[in-house]
Amino acid sequence: MRSVIDVLDLSEQELDELIATALDIIANPAKYAEACHGKKLATLFFEPSTRTRLSFEAAMYELGGNVLGFSEANSSSAAKGESVADTAKTVSCYADIIAMRHPKEGAAYIAAQAASVPVINAGDGGHCHPTQTLADLLTIYREKGTFENLTIGLCGDLKFGRTVHSLINAMSRYAGLKLVLISPQELKVPSYVKQKLKDEHIPYEQTTNLEAVMPKLDVLYMTRVQRERFFNEEDYLRLKDSYVLTLDKLANAKEDLVIMHPLPRVNEISVAVDNDPRACYFKQVLNGKYMRMALMLKLLKEAGKINEY
Ligand code: CP
Repeated sequence: MRSVIDVLDLSEQELDELIATALDIIANPAKYAEACHGKKLATLFFEPSTRTRLSFEAAMYELGGNVLGFSEANSSSAAKGESVADTAKTVSCYADIIAMRHPKEGAAYIAAQAASVPVINAGDGGHCHPTQTLADLLTIYREKGTFENLTIGLCGDLKFGRTVHSLINAMSRYAGLKLVLISPQELKVPSYVKQKLKDEHIPYEQTTNLEAVMPKLDVLYMTRVQRERFFNEEDYLRLKDSYVLTLDKLANAKEDLVIMHPLPRVNEISVAVDNDPRACYFKQVLNGKYMRMALMLKLLKEAGKINEY
């Protein structure tokens, strides 16, 4: 049974196909309105979410299917000690596909091993968030028209930010990529991510100074400092406002810079930036729904649960 735990579970060709499907959904929504008629998505969210859960649910409704699930661990039998594997086996009896978010790295993999329906990782701890990356890729493609020869700045919590790790994995497949990793010393990308960049000869630089590197960026991907992954509140409070993007700081940025953020935003981007035409983070939210529609169509078709779409 095909599941998606990491964005690298999808080949470059499959990513291109998902983007093509998403673009077709945007152009011809009526064509897809009954594509998942009679199918059920289970959203198993052991950790809070607004965008991911609701966009998965909206996506399934827009495909003509139905949705069941829970939005917090305490309202499931996990609160009584049920394992992720048993939960996944149980839910496979009720649903055709599962989207699961869990605070523990590897939980989605365990669910996928146990389930008899496709499982989509909707975020597992600080590890991966592949469908956020699908949203990010569609946003970059729609704004830039290409994935090649881009200089991408990733700014903020690069240690715990799972969306950053997934985006690096996905973008590292494209020619001409340059990465600028902007973070406080304590929140640098994990060494396994840096090793991958070295092994694949992807040029990158690390800095603490956002303004100094601003002029060279084609994409600026801001991230939130992940309070929920810190062991002590003092460190979080010291680091939480390390980077706040304001209009002043964009003075030397390219005219066609694409400003992204997976959201939720806490204080990383001033609301004054929202009206700048380069601000793309709410477009990213919408793109996430289209890519989740495309991914569910693909996995349900491969599982033999729907016909051609
Ligand atoms: N970007 C993202 O994962 O948002 P939520 O936590 O609201 O789902």
